[in-house]
Amino acid sequence: MTTEANAPLRTPVAASRLPAVGTTIFTVMSALAQEHRAVNLGQGFPDFDCDPRLLSATEQALRSGLNQYPPMAGVPALREAVAAKIEALYGHAYDAGGEITITAGATQAILSAILAIVHPGDEVIVLEPAYDSYEPGIVLAGGTPVHVALQPGSFRPDFDRIAAALTTRTRAILVNTPHNPSATVWSAAEMQRLADLLRPTDVFVIADEVYEHMVYDGARHESVARHPELAARSFVVSSFGKTYHVTGWKVGTVAAPAPLTAEFRKVHQFNVFTVNTPMQHALAAYMADPRPYLELPDFYQRKRDLFRAGLEATRLKPLPSAGTYFQCVDYSAASELSEVDFCQWLTREIGVAAIPLSVFYRDGREQRIARFCFAKQDATLRLALERLARL
Ligand SMILES: Cc1ncc(COP(=O)(O)O)c(C=O)c1O
Repeated sequence: MTTEANAPLRTPVAASRLPAVGTTIFTVMSALAQEHRAVNLGQGFPDFDCDPRLLSATEQALRSGLNQYPPMAGVPALREAVAAKIEALYGHAYDAGGEITITAGATQAILSAILAIVHPGDEVIVLEPAYDSYEPGIVLAGGTPVHVALQPGSFRPDFDRIAAALTTRTRAILVNTPHNPSATVWSAAEMQRLADLLRPTDVFVIADEVYEHMVYDGARHESVARHPELAARSFVVSSFGKTYHVTGWKVGTVAAPAPLTAEFRKVHQFNVFTVNTPMQHALAAYMADPRPYLELPDFYQRKRDLFRAGLEATRLKPLPSAGTYFQCVDYSAASELSEVDFCQWLTREIGVAAIPLSVFYRDGREQRIARFCFAKQDATLRLALERLARL
């Protein structure tokens, strides 16, 4: 007889909600980089610290007793600062009370937006190459990701293909500009094309704009918030992690019309409920000075140019990098390896970690392109370039 005393311990098997998901390539490459003491230009994060003024503001918040639950939607001063910034930069006045929510980074914002609007059986258009969190979010909501490739070579949106992918089941489209991994930036004309295409539909837009302050060569960021027709159907997502060099803080924002925000907050409320209080106060205080984000394009453009100039001396061909802190290269003159193999070889043998572009596609297509992150100290970039010159 099986009794409590002699019963084997029994762990039920979980039928996976995400059977296709494994450890992300970013984790794999970072571990490989550490193992081989490679310069890690793979995962997208700075190897330098944030502004000491932001740290002082955080310390002040921590020491002033701002350590209990904040309001569910976020600290009012931060929501007001975000609304004011969006209005100043993009001309759309969101109501800080009912249209701005502070989130635990952009990843949670995107997942919560998807869970708020996608029903089982709905289709969601994902433009590939795509950031890796989109697809699992859609699958968790019971939706079907519909992949549409950006144009090969230029990585610009292909509106004929997007139009062909729209069906009566399409619930949303995910748009990411500036774009990870290709470093392209949507133009005003492309935003207009999107608005024209969606006008007769009830399709929502989830706009991933985490790199909004990294647009180079005098171009401007075309936020969907600039475009009233698009803003009316959009969740606009951003991340303080990218803008203020604090990727580990995981604080982001969502701006959306009041009825969409109300649905978003229903999910947010029972997902994270609130985001840590002292960082929100610190960010609100720090945002009073717009210079850190207004000066970010110059700061990163200089690093981009340093890195690109160095690549000239290698067998890697840099593709255009109009925004984000990523630089893709065509390595076909240097190697015939597949993208995953090349990036692993580069990490092990040359001592520089990169990310294969193929992992951003569901079908893992090969284009002999690898992605580097240049959000690094100049000395780090120079060391990487020295090693890459040996290729
Ligand atoms: C396109 C894109 N969206 C979202 C995120 C996630 O942002 P967060 O760290 O705020 O969750 C990243 C981070 O790499 C990203 O590249």
